[in-house]
Amino acid sequence: MPDLNQIIQGDSIQILNDGPEGWVDLCFADPPFNIGYLYHGYDDQKDVTEYVDWSEKWMRAVHRALKPSGSFYLAIGDEFAADLSVVARRKIGFHLRNWIIWHYTFGQQTKMKFAKSHTHILYFTKSAEGFTFNADSVRVASARQTTYADSRANPKGKLPDDTWFLRPQEAAPHGYFEPGFDTWNESRVCGTFKEREGWHGCQMPIGVLNRIIKASSNEGNVVLDPFNGSGTTAVSAALLGRHYVGIDQSSEYVGYARKRLEHALSTQTPTDAKRGSRVLTATDAFGRPRVARRGRSTAKSA
Ligand SMILES: C[S@@+](CC[C@H](N)C(=O)[O-])C[C@H]1O[C@@H](n2cnc3c(N)ncnc32)[C@H](O)[C@@H]1O
Repeated sequence: MPDLNQIIQGDSIQILNDGPEGWVDLCFADPPFNIGYLYHGYDDQKDVTEYVDWSEKWMRAVHRALKPSGSFYLAIGDEFAADLSVVARRKIGFHLRNWIIWHYTFGQQTKMKFAKSHTHILYFTKSAEGFTFNADSVRVASARQTTYADSRANPKGKLPDDTWFLRPQEAAPHGYFEPGFDTWNESRVCGTFKEREGWHGCQMPIGVLNRIIKASSNEGNVVLDPFNGSGTTAVSAALLGRHYVGIDQSSEYVGYARKRLEHALSTQTPTDAKRGSRVLTATDAFGRPRVARRGRSTAKSA
């Protein structure tokens, strides 16, 4: 297996297939959506068949790397959510547990159609039984508690719905989930937000990763992100006391993600992350110009 607690430069498919089977507890993957976004070193405008075939290859590599008890969360856009769900379930054999809608605010403005405000997060397990799901670590206050003062309410709260909401003014700068639902209403990480790194246009909010990692792994487990990007998964995993392995094809992104992680670990302790009470301050620390958001083409440095 790759050395743990590393962000590695390379092709995920090759690295995972060259490694052993069954060493990963949780994989979070946020691949390029094939929508023409300009990445450093990656063409995001492939032929449809080529993209779906490539997706099958990397999802098979993830399946192989997962322990039988492992979980796999796939963030994906409207364009390929259905195709990749079919491949993951029918061709590879993943078990779908939730089709989560992460509802965000600050979506891109449109002129001739409704503004997009969601990303799909497909939650799979490798096996139908025997996976980790830490219900108590992600419970939220129920309406019985907050509205009806109902004595029958479970004092521990309820499990979130599968549409996830987070209030942007709280979720984005502080990076934690507000009691909510399973449409995940965490704001996208917009250009003006403190959390934003500035050198990667697809940065996931740390609150989304915190919920996934708390629910589907335990301290000391191994969390894999085969499309590491700005390193959000690695930061969340490290601060929550999990081992992490991040892989990205771009040496540029890997270099910055390593610095982001180093900075996060030097300014925030794992305990702070568990409480979800501190600000991740590694914003624009490396002097890179901001880039456009996912879905908008922009020139990137080579
Ligand atoms: C949507 S971004 C991930 C963003 C990440 N979730 C974050 O929070 O910053 C997708 C990433 O996949 C990387 N990538 C594309 N093809 C890859 C491959 N074959 N192996 C590893 N990384 C790859 C790109 O360089 C890009 O950084």
